[in-house]
Amino acid sequence: MSELNNIAQQIIQKGKGILAADESTGTMTKRLESVGVSSTPENRLLFRNTLFSSDAMKSYIGGVILYDETIKQNSLSKNKIPELISGTGAVPGIKVDTGAKILANSTEEKITEGLDGLRERLKEYYKLGARFTKWRAVYIISENYPSKLSIHSNAHALARYSALVQECGMVPIVEPEVLMDGDHEALECFNKTSEVIKKCFDELSRHKVDLKGIILKPNMILPGTNSSKKIDTKKIAELTLKCLKVSVPAEVPGIAFLSGGQSELDATRNLNSINLINDTNFNITYSYGRALQQGALKFWSKNTEDIKGTQKIFNHRVKMCSLASSGKWSENLEKN
Ligand code: 13P
Repeated sequence: MSELNNIAQQIIQKGKGILAADESTGTMTKRLESVGVSSTPENRLLFRNTLFSSDAMKSYIGGVILYDETIKQNSLSKNKIPELISGTGAVPGIKVDTGAKILANSTEEKITEGLDGLRERLKEYYKLGARFTKWRAVYIISENYPSKLSIHSNAHALARYSALVQECGMVPIVEPEVLMDGDHEALECFNKTSEVIKKCFDELSRHKVDLKGIILKPNMILPGTNSSKKIDTKKIAELTLKCLKVSVPAEVPGIAFLSGGQSELDATRNLNSINLINDTNFNITYSYGRALQQGALKFWSKNTEDIKGTQKIFNHRVKMCSLASSGKWSENLEKN
């Protein structure tokens, strides 16, 4: 097995998943202010340090995605944040894109930036302890979107990013996120997500990326947030698995879903339903941001001194997702 494949397998080993704690300062500020906490570097560290030093880390977290600010901070016990994370057995990772900006000649669609100077930044992150990275591309669903231009340019950027990351000895998370916003039906999400993912793999192959050394981070197949045609979790699972089967090459070791705005409960339930019928060789798990942190953040915002109480909520949420990654979750476990 290659070194990259070893790292990927460590991150997505059975019963574990990824904590996406890589919100940019802008996004984290929105999250903190929405619960009445001011967004200072100290507060951002305090909340994240609380999660990173929880019991759930050792048992259920295989990797943590950090933001540039956090990977350079010292933990409250004075060691470096990447050391705090690796001390729990999880792999430190880093978001390396610099955000999605409007694509030239489009009014709404976005292209993710960050390729210029990436090789040098990657070397620095490797020295800081990162062993995997994340780059997120975003796509809108509407009658004319995502356009061929957006699908092609984002796939190209994801492939150039992935090749550079592997060159530096790290595992790239490839994240093509087809957004939930809109009134489209689940079938449209299926068709468009399948097209987006296929195009990503065309480009990854063209750029000679070792597919055994990546992790795919896709969206689940869901109806748009404003769709009148809701479907049940079993149907979500069937469509999602079908999408992976038609678009993801078998060499890919793992799929770690984003939560994308689903509630904590929905993201857990749907992951469980997918794993109940997973007849592929892909290890299918979570790489959740909001769906792992929401409850803990809400509690913490009212009780910033109560580290243990915040960790209790986080531990429970992660345990539920871990069970869902093996198809062993059920709703009555939520009450324990
Ligand atoms: P959500 O799970 O909140 O969608 O975040 C995952 C992520 O990393 C988005 O890039």
